[in-house]
Amino acid sequence: MNINMFLSKKIQQALVTLGASADCKAQVRHSAKTQFGDYQVNGIMAIAMQLRLPPRELAKKVVDLLELGGIASKIEIAGHGFINIYLDPSWLEKHLTEAIDSPRLGVANVPPQTIVVDYSAPNIAKEMHVGHVRSTIVGDASVRTLIFLGHNVIKANHIGDWGTQFGMLIAYLEKLQQDGEAEMQISCLERFYRAAKQHYDKDPVFTERARDYVVKLQRGDKYCRKMWHKLVNVTMEQNQKIYDRLNVTLKHNDIMGESLYNPMLPGIVSDLKEKGIAAESEGAIVVFLEEFKNKQGEPMGVIIQKKDGAYLYTTIDIACAKYRYETLKAERMIYYIDSRQHQHLMQVWTIVRKAGYVPESVPLEHHMLGMMLSKDGKPFKTRSGGVIKLTALLDEALERARYLIATKNPYMEAAELERLAQVVSVGAIKYAELSKNRTTDYVFNWDNMLSFEGNTALYIQYAYTRIASIFKQRGQNKQQFTSDIRLKTIQETQLAVRLLQFEEAVITVARDGTPHILCTYMYDLAVLFSTFYEHCPILNAKHASLCQSRLQLALLTGRTLKQGLNLLGIETVERM
Ligand code: ARG
Repeated sequence: MNINMFLSKKIQQALVTLGASADCKAQVRHSAKTQFGDYQVNGIMAIAMQLRLPPRELAKKVVDLLELGGIASKIEIAGHGFINIYLDPSWLEKHLTEAIDSPRLGVANVPPQTIVVDYSAPNIAKEMHVGHVRSTIVGDASVRTLIFLGHNVIKANHIGDWGTQFGMLIAYLEKLQQDGEAEMQISCLERFYRAAKQHYDKDPVFTERARDYVVKLQRGDKYCRKMWHKLVNVTMEQNQKIYDRLNVTLKHNDIMGESLYNPMLPGIVSDLKEKGIAAESEGAIVVFLEEFKNKQGEPMGVIIQKKDGAYLYTTIDIACAKYRYETLKAERMIYYIDSRQHQHLMQVWTIVRKAGYVPESVPLEHHMLGMMLSKDGKPFKTRSGGVIKLTALLDEALERARYLIATKNPYMEAAELERLAQVVSVGAIKYAELSKNRTTDYVFNWDNMLSFEGNTALYIQYAYTRIASIFKQRGQNKQQFTSDIRLKTIQETQLAVRLLQFEEAVITVARDGTPHILCTYMYDLAVLFSTFYEHCPILNAKHASLCQSRLQLALLTGRTLKQGLNLLGIETVERM
C-alpha cells in the first residue's frame, strides 16, 4: 500500500470539505525527525492563508474530520499548523505480514498502460561511448520498474542507422572487402568511421561513389541494402555484448532505428503541407513555430525536408511519435535523451500535437539526462582527449573490483572471485549513475564508486549478504514462521516503516523516471537494517517468538533489497 498517497488523499478530502479548492496540495512528507512522527503534513499553512483562517485552527479542523482507519496511533498538531502522523504498530505488523506473503512485496496493482520507452540509441558504425551510458542505464531501470508494476512496456532502441554518411560507410566497407581485410578493420568501429571519412574528404573518386551509394541505398538497391545491413549488424552485435555485460535488458528485437520510419516520411511532409503547418521556404520545406523564437525574435523555422529532398532527424522523430501512437498504441511515451536535445524534442512534439498525430491525452515526456564529467568539471574524456569507450570503462571497473575483493578475501576460490568481481563492478558503475539525479551533470569518480561505506551498490549488496548469512546459519525451513511480527523497539519500528515505504519509492520512479529516489530508499533501508541488527539480537533473541518476529523483518528486508536492486538492474550474491 502507498501510505503517502493514502494520507494525501484523506487530508485533501478533509481540506476540500473545509472549503479548499479541489486541487489543493496536502504536501505529505516523511518526517525529518522521529519526534515529528512518521509523516508530516506541510501544506496547511498555505491553504489557511487562502481560506483566511489561523493555520492551527485549520489543522485542528482537518484532524477532527480525518478518518484514517487504524493506520495512525497518534495525530499531533505542531508549530504553525503542521500535522504529525504516527503510524500504528499493529497496523504496521499486519501490513508487514501481508508484504511477506505477497510475491510483489505488497505493492498494489496499478491500471496497466502501454508505455514506449526510448533509450540507449547508439549510432551505427560508431562505438557506444560513456555519453550513451546514462540513457542506457537509467532507461533500463525505468523499464524494469514499469514492468514490475505490471505495465506493458515497449523498449525502443532508436539507433542512428540512417543518413547521408551511409554512402561513405558502404563505399569504405566495399574497399576493405576488396583489399580482403574487412573483418579485421570493422571490429574497431571508431577507426573504421574515421578512415572512411578521410577517404571521403581526400579521394574524389571515392566521394563520387559514396554519393552514388546514398542515392542507391535510399532507392532500395539490393547491394547497398546488403552492405548497410552488414554495418548495422556488426555494430549492434558489439553493442549487444555491452548490454549483456551491463545486465541491460535490451535485445536485438528492441531495435527500432531511424530507418524504420523512412516509408512514412514523404507522407508526413505532404500531410503537414496540406494541413498548412509546413510551407516551402527557399526551396526547403519548413514549419514555422510561433512557440519558439529565433535570434531575431521571429517564429523559428524548423526544416523538415531539405532543398535536395533529404529528410532530417526532426522529420524522423515526428514520424516516430506518430508510429508509436498509431501502430504501437502507446498510452505514454518516455524518451531518455541528453538534455542538449531538449529543444529538438520540444519542436518535434509541438508539430506532432499541431498535426494531431498524438492526442494531448498521451503524455510525451523527455526524461532529460545531464552530462558525465571528469573531476575537473570537463566532459569525461581520455587523457589524449578522445571519448572513453564503454568496454574500457567496464574492464577497468572489473580490474578494480577483483583487487578489492581479493584483498578482503585472500582465500576465495578463483571462480567465485571472478563472479563476484563481475557483479560488484557492474553494480558500482550502474549505481553511480542511478544514485544521482539524472538531470544534473555527474562527476565520474572511481573511489566513491567502489566503497563499502556510504551510498554505494556495494554497501547495499553487502547488507544483503548479511541477511542471507542469517538464513544460511538457520538452515532449512527458513520461510516457515509460527509467530507473528511484534514491533517492540524503536529500531524495529523504524525498519518496519521504511519497509512499507517501498511502494512509494517504486511509484515515484515509475512516474518521474528518477531511479535515484529508489537508491536513496535502499540505502536508508540498509542503514536502518544495520542499526536494527546491532540493537536487536535475532538468532539469540530472548524468546523463540521474538526470534521469529525479527527473522521476518530480516527476511522482508532481504527480499526488498534484492527486488530493489533488481529494479535497478543490479545483481546480488549470497556472500562476499
Ligand atoms: N542516436 C541519437 C544520438 O546519439 C539519440 C536518439 C534518441 N532518440 C530519439 N528518438 N531521437 O544522439
